Amino acid sequence: MSEPLNISESRPAVFLDRDGTLIEDAGIISSPDQIVLFNDTIETLLSLQKQFLLFVITNQGAAASGLISCKQIAEVNEALSRELNAEGIIIEEWYVCPHDRADNCDCIKPNSYFVLEAAEKYNLDLQRSYMIGDHPHDVLTGEAEGVFGLYLLTGHGLRHINEVPLDKPVFHTLAAAAEWIIQHPDPRKTLQEAIRDGAQALKDGKLVAFPTETVYGLGADALNETAAAGIFIAKKRPLNDPLIVHVHNLEQLEQLTSSIPESAVKLIDAFWPGPLTLVLPKSPAVPDIVTAGGSTVAVRMPQHPLALELLRQAGTPIAAPSANVFGKTSPTTAKHVAEQLSGRYEVLIDGGACRVGVESTVLTLVGEKPVILRPGGITKEEIEQVIGSVADRGELSENHMASPGLLPSHYAPSTPLVVTDTPLKFCNDEHIAIIVLQPSEEIFRGSVFALSPDGDLRSAAAMLYQTLRLVDGMHFTMIVAERFPDKGIGVAANDRMTRAAAKK
Ligand code: TXA
Ligand code: MG
Repeated sequence: MSEPLNISESRPAVFLDRDGTLIEDAGIISSPDQIVLFNDTIETLLSLQKQFLLFVITNQGAAASGLISCKQIAEVNEALSRELNAEGIIIEEWYVCPHDRADNCDCIKPNSYFVLEAAEKYNLDLQRSYMIGDHPHDVLTGEAEGVFGLYLLTGHGLRHINEVPLDKPVFHTLAAAAEWIIQHPDPRKTLQEAIRDGAQALKDGKLVAFPTETVYGLGADALNETAAAGIFIAKKRPLNDPLIVHVHNLEQLEQLTSSIPESAVKLIDAFWPGPLTLVLPKSPAVPDIVTAGGSTVAVRMPQHPLALELLRQAGTPIAAPSANVFGKTSPTTAKHVAEQLSGRYEVLIDGGACRVGVESTVLTLVGEKPVILRPGGITKEEIEQVIGSVADRGELSENHMASPGLLPSHYAPSTPLVVTDTPLKFCNDEHIAIIVLQPSEEIFRGSVFALSPDGDLRSAAAMLYQTLRLVDGMHFTMIVAERFPDKGIGVAANDRMTRAAAKK
């Protein structure tokens, strides 16, 4: 039962973008028959309206160039409103901005006119209100008034993800964003508290799961041997597989290593904070358990603002592998972490979905030539632009120090996985889930999942683990995934898929 409405008390609201957030973004939607609701829209709005007043703000820029009339926009909104009403959903107001974004109108700028109007008319508590959209402008709407922006990867989300400030959480679906909202009632404060509790837990030698830009990590104080040992137990990870140590600043890097080559300095300059892990000679400060007894240590500075803030407050480097049971698919949301490791950490910091979505590149700078031990978020091409030619792991002699995380079988879903260049050959069997890089004209079957609206490799990689997990939970007998082109981030995606597909 929801609380009875007390009109003298200010109430929180959720402002929702229409196209790409509530309904599919089908370009210019000029008639009601073009409306296609996302399959989680109704259920999500029903759950949100128990606590929040709901508003829709929609920018219909095509009206500025005469491609659609205000009457048509109103017809579509009225039809959608009726459809939602029929399900018991009340949208308090439908605000339409008919301007081109470049016109700099007052409607949806950061201190949005619509948000202020709604706040006044409905006595809203904007500090506890949210804006959800699939476009950077949506997310920033109302920001100046304290409205907290959440960014969706539906609609145009994947295309514009690089334009969204790093401190704005991103979500794979509207339902995931709504769950986060309900768990973060005073969003800035709730996040601050989670970080503070996480930092304290780390200082106390406990485990903390936290987001990075690549995947969620399961962290412990890297300088505390007992705490680091706890990671191996929680993950059921073999002790011969060393951990990556995350740092907040270069002093910590110096503390962990015995020497830092010139090439490392250049790479750090170019890619830190970011998804590049450097393997360097270790210092005595690093406990043996962290490096699996080896003489080198793997270090990276994560880019995620919550990870950096956790590191800052903990005041110590954090050893953290991906927060999954050893050998399984890495988690790219807090929910993934809880599904596999619930009860095994003290604090789980929920920062939404990870934007890169595959693990960091592991590059060793120990030895004659730099070698990529694990392809990842920073591509070989990008590294070579900074330090010249680097080798792939395949080029190593057998006695070269291996990266044990590169076991042939890893990152695996429970459902058998096959990786192929021709996934659509399997499209006649409805028991088989098919994962393709981009939607294809020929196929409309429900068991085909496209990673990216336009086949962009970075966005496809960002959706890979999320999609593998989703499909793994759907009781298919087999998953067939399309191989990425072997370039850029595609190398990392193929590496993970091949390992995930390998027989155990
Ligand atoms: O993106 C990432 O790297 C994520 C996030 C949480 O930062 N972490 C991650 O950690 O993927 P993990 O433990 O799942 O993978 C670490 C990889 C393994 O392949 C491990 O063998 C390798 O790094 N590694 C760690 N220390 C090493 C060392 N001293 N020499 C060679 N390889 C090392
Ligand atoms: Mg949109």
